Amino acid sequence: MPIRIGFVGIGWIAGTHMDALSQLEDAQPIAFCDLDSERAERAAARFGGRAYTDWRTMLNAEPLDALYICLPPHAHDGVEIAAAERGIHLFVEKPVARDLDYARRVEEAIQKAGVICSVGYHFRYYGATERAKERLQGLPVLMVKGAWDGGMPTGTLWWRKHALSGGQQVEQTTHIFDLARYLVGEIVEVFTFSQNNPALLHHPDGDVNVADVVCLKFANGAVGVITDTNGLHAPGEVGLKVYTPERVVEVSWGRMVETEANRKEEYHSRDNPYLRESEAFLTAIRTGDRSQIRCDYSDAMRTLAVTLAADESGRKGSLLTIG
Ligand SMILES: NC(=O)c1ccc[n+]([C@@H]2O[C@H](COP(=O)([O-])OP(=O)(O)OC[C@H]3O[C@@H](n4cnc5c(N)ncnc54)[C@H](O)[C@@H]3O)[C@@H](O)[C@H]2O)c1
Repeated sequence: MPIRIGFVGIGWIAGTHMDALSQLEDAQPIAFCDLDSERAERAAARFGGRAYTDWRTMLNAEPLDALYICLPPHAHDGVEIAAAERGIHLFVEKPVARDLDYARRVEEAIQKAGVICSVGYHFRYYGATERAKERLQGLPVLMVKGAWDGGMPTGTLWWRKHALSGGQQVEQTTHIFDLARYLVGEIVEVFTFSQNNPALLHHPDGDVNVADVVCLKFANGAVGVITDTNGLHAPGEVGLKVYTPERVVEVSWGRMVETEANRKEEYHSRDNPYLRESEAFLTAIRTGDRSQIRCDYSDAMRTLAVTLAADESGRKGSLLTIG
């Protein structure tokens, strides 16, 4: 039986998921919703499905097994809860929300309905990340250095508005905070210095921080720092480096570098993490076995809590503990 799939939010990342799903035999995208009717209609034409501009109408009309929610952080307005109540399994793009109160209500609805939920922290699905996790298994960690240093695209107004995106840490650098949690463990304290001179932003109508440095303390005693900037016109860097006494392991997209005293290994994963995350999600729906899903909703909420605290720490100038 094909798995009947709907989409809400048909922008950049939805296109990536549609490309992945078109490679999976049992995936059948049938319904597409975007406020921009042209986007919804284009996607519907591609798969021979139906287009909507209101997700409530779509959920009432379509017999969906699964829903991909690819909305900007500010636009999560109850669709997860309505879908879960109908027994529809959820794939939710990161960050799962703009605030924790909303995320808690969604988590409760998911648990009550017993639906499967996978969150799009795709870095967890790179073969390079998998290998890094194996190499770090059981090792004490001294410290972590991570970065999401780059520029900011023009097309997405919501991204540069703090009220809409939650800021750079909640929206973008969340991948690196999540990778740190995935590879090292829970983050329990954060302290942030933020550079928020709007004149340095690429777009004068933005109000997010242009750079941040976040100091971290992990529950296992490791310490770390994660930097971000969206103000670069020059090439930046994205990735995470984990320091153990005998071995330094670095992950950047699909590349892993492991360095020891007399040995250096570089590994490039050729697989597509977006395809792997959809395979894991559909396998869970088909078989009930969730073991291939690398980030569920509750896990993603913990990353959200860390990034919200990092953002708040920068504004308050105080050290914050994550509960
Ligand atoms: N995992 C990844 O690699 C990755 C990459 C890019 C984006 N993302 C995440 O995906 C989300 C979307 O990002 P994007 O780059 O695709 O954004 P986008 O701006 O390209 O697309 C978002 C779409 O949502 C639509 N939309 C907004 N409110 C809506 C509503 N109420 N109902 C229906 N449609 C609505 C917009 O019209 C737009 O077409 C963000 O949370 C982002 O962080 C994840």
